Amino acid sequence: MEKLAMLYEGKAKKIYDTNDKNVFWVEYKDDATAFNGIKKGTIVDKGIINNKMSAMMFSYLQKNGVDTHFVELLSDREQIVRRLQMVPLEIVVRNIVAGSLVKKVGKEEGYSLASPVLELYYKDDALGDPMVNETHALAMGWATIEQINKMKEIALKVNELMTKIVAKAGIDLVDYKLEFGLIDGKVMLGDEISPDTCRFWDKDTGEKLDKDRFRRDLGKIEEAYAEVYTRLKDALENA
Ligand code: C5P
Repeated sequence: MEKLAMLYEGKAKKIYDTNDKNVFWVEYKDDATAFNGIKKGTIVDKGIINNKMSAMMFSYLQKNGVDTHFVELLSDREQIVRRLQMVPLEIVVRNIVAGSLVKKVGKEEGYSLASPVLELYYKDDALGDPMVNETHALAMGWATIEQINKMKEIALKVNELMTKIVAKAGIDLVDYKLEFGLIDGKVMLGDEISPDTCRFWDKDTGEKLDKDRFRRDLGKIEEAYAEVYTRLKDALENA
């Protein structure tokens, strides 16, 4: 397969065309942004960790019956994914209160939720990815009710599978963001699963092993990304 022209450069990845119309060639970057692009920086070798971790997590989910866009890991920073027609909605799944939920429910960071919370966000940089509900999505034609229901069903299945393996690694899966797309009308999981898109806390110490270290200037960012990857890799190999 040939890597052709770059089609799109996002905050964390570059997407290239290929000579196969069914797939894209993805390259993961070290660039880090937070607070809707206001804070910018570099996390050394983040692209390598996020590429390999996404490949590993998508493979695990696929083996357990979740349809994802992942096809093949090519190199440290590159992977092949199926071309999805992206749904402009993100689903955030939450198991423990943190981040933007703190101010919505009036509980402190770390409060364990009795059941998973699913939130919808409209993917739009100019609007700062606002939280929306299903009626917004339907009224704006961003997705059909069947697609939203399928996204929610996949999100809950992903949550069961991810919680299990993350726990085996001695980590709490606090919250994370998922993106979806369509192939011939079928809803599939896309984008990435990495410390950029998930909150991971060490079960014993509560130490943050994710992008909050960058957002909050906590230091040891590279070490945290590497640690969570190694622990999840070991947990999956011994599963
Ligand atoms: O900021 P907030 O608490 O709403 O984020 C919830 C989860 O979704 C976090 O794990 C965060 O990393 C992830 N997220 C993301 N991309 C966004 C918004 C949130 O990966 N655009």
